[in-house]
Amino acid sequence: MFKRLLLQLCALVVVGGISATSWANVPAPPVNQNIGIPDGVFNDLARENCWYCHIPSRLTPENLDDIGWTFQPPEVKPGVITDRHHFRVGTVIQNPTDSPFGVPGETYECTDCHIIEFNPDAGYFEVVENFVNCLNCHQQIPAQASVHHLTAPAQALNCQHCHGARIDNPGDGHYIPTGRTPTLVTPRTSNGKGPNGEGACDFCHNAGTDDVTGRVIPTNDVNHHSTGIGQPGISDLDCSICHDQMGTDWAIRRCEDCHGIKSIHNIQFDSNDDGVITIGGEDPFFGHVGSSPQDCNGCHGGYIMASGMPAPFSGPIVPELSGLSKQRVTTGTAETITVSGQALTNEVRTFMGDMEVKSRVSLTAPDGTTLELTPQTISPSAMDVTLPADLSPGNYYLRAVKGSDTMSNPIVLLVGPQVAIDEVSSNGTTLTITGGGFGTYLNAVDSGTSVTMATTTCSVDSWSDSEIVANCGTAVCGSLEVESIFGSASKEVSCN
Ligand code: HEC
Ligand code: HEC
Ligand code: HEC
Ligand code: HEC
Ligand code: HEC
Ligand code: HEC
Ligand code: HEC
Ligand code: HEC
Repeated sequence: MFKRLLLQLCALVVVGGISATSWANVPAPPVNQNIGIPDGVFNDLARENCWYCHIPSRLTPENLDDIGWTFQPPEVKPGVITDRHHFRVGTVIQNPTDSPFGVPGETYECTDCHIIEFNPDAGYFEVVENFVNCLNCHQQIPAQASVHHLTAPAQALNCQHCHGARIDNPGDGHYIPTGRTPTLVTPRTSNGKGPNGEGACDFCHNAGTDDVTGRVIPTNDVNHHSTGIGQPGISDLDCSICHDQMGTDWAIRRCEDCHGIKSIHNIQFDSNDDGVITIGGEDPFFGHVGSSPQDCNGCHGGYIMASGMPAPFSGPIVPELSGLSKQRVTTGTAETITVSGQALTNEVRTFMGDMEVKSRVSLTAPDGTTLELTPQTISPSAMDVTLPADLSPGNYYLRAVKGSDTMSNPIVLLVGPQVAIDEVSSNGTTLTITGGGFGTYLNAVDSGTSVTMATTTCSVDSWSDSEIVANCGTAVCGSLEVESIFGSASKEVSCN
């Protein structure tokens, strides 16, 4: 420990003179926080913390209280969280479900999530505000398990569902060198045996204060244990997911279930900000394979003569998405959107010169089917892609993918139905409105679902996704408007 401190002090002096980036944790620890989910503890959140990353449409970033978090939230927003719930209307309720009133197997209606109550003073039904606090429906176990890690994909050890290929999934068949005994080159989880403590994850990933944000980064055990994965009393998962021979030279092999050579050797940030990630051509301490041998030695201990050596499996640096130019589109139109991120392409040094590895766009539909699209234009930080016009409505996980399966974190793309009135027929004061995208109806004030003729609010007799029967009383002609959970449509009804 003493040796390492000394090394850091010396290195700081040297690096100060040569590094292009002064605001960075170089050398580590702690590591920079450019890639992935911020390292930390998230099992004691209040609704405002959820909003920091997931903003409901009634709020804007400006409305949010300062909750003192100093990292950039991942792009799961802005404002799509309301639609993401509403796009579930009419779809099958999953099992298990976080819906307070829904029955798995049936289809979602408004009252599977919302409560309406009659207000006797005003004389109408109102939507009760049970929906504002995320934690009324989504569970965490304070100080033990965070909300994301109690979800079905996390409990099924599908960690890549949200973390992308920065990690591997246990049991997906990726290579782990179990056939040979660990050597001095095999990384340890902590207490590296290298001359200065190299040769372990915590040589770089250790507690400390992030230079850029001032945030305190905890140790690796705290970051993992606080997710609740494998902790007692939470589910059938236990410690053996991450530990089998703790404290021995074999310990890292269990970690390789998620941190296999394939993912480990493809984590890298663009250190010199030249817009391109070049494997073997970056400053040290911005990832795992930027600089050989410095980065290699952090894990491999400094025993091997790794200088200039390529790391096995490295090539497709894990891409990371940070935003979509449009997060909600409508079915029926082939829109072109811009997907931004980092490492969407990268360079690999080969004997034939530098070779570019490019991402494709993958869309996973609510039913689990996946569609791949080739972007029209691509740079390391952005790509333009045209979405097919015939996507059926719903919430899609959009990812960048390189090679066979090196996928980024997801960003949710919302495909809304077209809300349209085709025909209106009347029988006395009763109107039959046919069309599509009407969703379901909630008879309450400000429910976001209504039929109006001119300025009169009509009473609804029946309402399905394609047909509404309503009574507008004396208002029999004028501008007819249907407001549905998915949007609105209007049509002129002539007076003769
Ligand atoms: C640090 C940012 C962050 C915070 C804070 C956060 N989330 Fe998330 N959440 C994400 C990301 C990233 C995903 C995965 C991508 C996605 O589904 O959009 C996600 C996904 C989810 C999902 C979907 C799970 C699934 O099965 O796919 C739910 C539900 C969720 N979050 C609820 C919450 C709730 C409730 C809170 C507050 C207790 C919260 N989140 C706080 C970033 C965050
Ligand atoms: C799967 C759960 C779910 C279903 C089903 C659902 N909602 Fe919601 N609803 C939500 C959530 C979550 C929010 C947003 C929470 C927030 O704003 O903090 C919301 C917000 C709303 C709001 C407030 C909108 C705003 O911008 O302030 C209205 C009104 C509403 N829903 C009506 C409906 C109607 C009508 C239906 C049926 C057609 C419906 N909801 C179906 C979960 C649901
Ligand atoms: C009234 C209950 C309720 C509230 C409140 C609620 N949710 Fe949900 N949420 C659900 C249900 C139900 C689902 C559908 C998944 C399921 O059946 O468990 C869902 C799904 C989600 C999803 C995944 C949606 C998708 O298909 O992509 C995210 C993300 C999410 N919720 C986040 C939040 C956040 C953040 C909040 C607070 C702003 C919140 N929820 C508030 C009930 C609720
Ligand atoms: C539904 C999306 C989702 C899934 C699935 C998921 N995570 Fe996470 N993970 C997140 C989000 C969002 C955060 C940050 C907020 C939190 O911890 O709840 C996070 C944070 C973490 C952290 C702490 C942050 C860090 O970088 O140190 C660890 C460790 C972690 N997850 C491990 C796992 C493991 C192991 C699995 C699979 C068993 C898994 N996650 C599956 C979304 C997910
Ligand atoms: C030479 C220093 C060094 C060593 C040793 C090291 N890492 Fe990293 N690692 C980094 C840097 C730098 C990043 C990029 C952090 C950023 O910018 O977010 C990183 C990022 C990661 C990430 C993705 C982003 C994140 O923060 O979650 C994972 C996962 C990871 N390392 C796992 C490991 C594991 C497992 C070990 C031990 C086998 C290890 N690392 C050893 C320097 C190192
Ligand atoms: C999701 C992965 C994961 C799971 C599951 C997990 N751990 Fe850990 N644990 C870690 C990591 C990562 C470290 C840090 C290793 C290091 O630095 O050597 C750690 C370190 C430890 C340590 C040594 C450091 C400390 O905190 O004292 C102990 C003891 C420990 N774990 C016990 C457990 C027990 C008991 C369980 C089951 C209840 C468990 N762990 C489950 C990931 C996990
Ligand atoms: C079940 C899967 C899983 C196992 C097993 C696992 N980890 Fe992780 N680990 C993760 C995930 C997920 C992250 C967060 C990646 C991100 O930021 O998106 C992570 C992140 C890390 C990081 C980067 C720093 C941080 O906190 O984000 C280190 C270092 C690390 N793990 C070390 C270990 C060690 C050591 C072990 C074995 C004791 C281990 N992990 C076992 C899933 C796992
Ligand atoms: C973040 C930690 C980390 C970094 C940085 C890293 N590696 Fe590795 N590497 C591993 C792990 C873990 C293994 C598996 C070792 C084991 O289980 O015995 C491995 C295995 C290897 C192997 C043996 C492959 C096999 O088939 O068993 C070689 C060769 C190698 N690394 C070279 C490199 C080179 C060269 C670099 C730098 C460009 C590098 N590594 C950077 C973690 C790392």
